[in-house]
Amino acid sequence: MNILILTGAGISAESGVPTFRDANGLWEGHRFEDVATPQAFRRNPSLVHHFYNQRRRSLLDVRIQPNPAHRALAEFEAEHRGGFLLVTQNIDDLHVRAGSKNVLAMHGELLKARCETTEEIFPWRDDLDETTTNPNHPEFIGTMRPHVVWFGEMPLGLARIEEAARNADLFIAIGTSAVVYPAAGIVRQTKPTCRKIEINLDATPNSSEFDQSIRGKASIEVPAFLKSLASG
Ligand code: NAD
Ligand code: APR
Repeated sequence: MNILILTGAGISAESGVPTFRDANGLWEGHRFEDVATPQAFRRNPSLVHHFYNQRRRSLLDVRIQPNPAHRALAEFEAEHRGGFLLVTQNIDDLHVRAGSKNVLAMHGELLKARCETTEEIFPWRDDLDETTTNPNHPEFIGTMRPHVVWFGEMPLGLARIEEAARNADLFIAIGTSAVVYPAAGIVRQTKPTCRKIEINLDATPNSSEFDQSIRGKASIEVPAFLKSLASG
């Protein structure tokens, strides 16, 4: 059986990482046009760096740890005989820290930085600013940016995601508001026989596309659902 999982900010909410669109979400204090577009970066790089520096520092706080939903997915993958791909819209590293192996971070990774000149990608834990240099090319000053996908840019791994969607026998969307495309369209790329499950606190615009919508906290519902699959 081929399994495709899609996760969003909701799966990391109980780990202490703020979501985007819930009350107190990240977009409440910011207009995404000001901090999460290539135009914003050109216009005001220090504001964009500041936004991501804060998020990176928060993620590195020792209290931010994978929760039972991340761990259950990693344990399930380790036991599963068959295809498995975990596509995440999250830029945190909690799936990887929980032990998941086949993870595709379609909106990039906060703990990486990329040189706009050479396209090299580096693991990154420090703040970035307009004076940061490419570690391999100190002559390139101010060319480093967070390795994240901004609005208006192409998400990563789309061909692989499309193939996994076409071949999936089971698709599970967890903790995503289903308003940002192309992630929100993956459910419609699956074949008619694919079983489709949504796990979310609330209904989403996509809920009617799923065979079953499970309402509840990811930390409870994800382990419970995966256990029910494993036992039969
Ligand atoms: P868009 O112009 O916002 O994005 C274009 C492309 O950028 C999409 O393919 C998207 O996948 C990609 N993208 C780039 N950075 C992204 C990121 N950080 N997260 C997710 N995707 C990213 O158009 P869209 O994808 O059609 O936007 C979906 C809807 O969400 C729109 O109605 C948009 O106005 C709305 N939106 C709302 C907020 C908010 O909550 N304040 C933020 C962003 C977008
Ligand atoms: N358990 C399950 N679901 C939850 C929980 C929880 N503990 N907490 C919140 N949720 C649900 C909310 O009901 C909401 O539907 O998670 C969803 C979070 O939605 P968003 O904040 O919109 O996050 P996401 O869907 O990942 O956003 C998509 O938008 O701005 C971009 O780059 C950003 O990748 C992100 C993309």
